[in-house]
Amino acid sequence: MTSSGEPDAKPPRLPTVFVCTTCRRPEDPEDAPRAGAALAAALQETADPSVVTIRPVGCLANCKRGPSAALGCKGAWTYMFGGLAAVEDATALLEGARLLAASEDGLLPWRGRPEILKRNMICRFPPLEFPT
Ligand code: FES
Repeated sequence: MTSSGEPDAKPPRLPTVFVCTTCRRPEDPEDAPRAGAALAAALQETADPSVVTIRPVGCLANCKRGPSAALGCKGAWTYMFGGLAAVEDATALLEGARLLAASEDGLLPWRGRPEILKRNMICRFPPLEFPT
């Protein structure tokens, strides 16, 4: 409760970007550096940890359509993306994280969503507490 008797504002939701560090681009040779690792590094260099958590993971089971990342937030839907550019799409993922955290209905809004997050969405799934 605030001093004026108003209920406290909802605490901000902290989104998480899960990024696969072992993804390759289909065109990369076997011994090339992993594009997923480069994307994870770009996210970690760019992200403000007070507004988004970056979680590198081993595999998101989207290997044939990588590089892959998933975007989630407590009480919101989770979104999987594939075919991401190694570094260039880090900014788009961070913008998506910002939009999802601010979303009233827990859905990543279409309007304002970076193009890569429209074209390269693999799937989405609801929060565990999704009402039936
Ligand atoms: S290796 Fe990246 S999703 Fe499997």
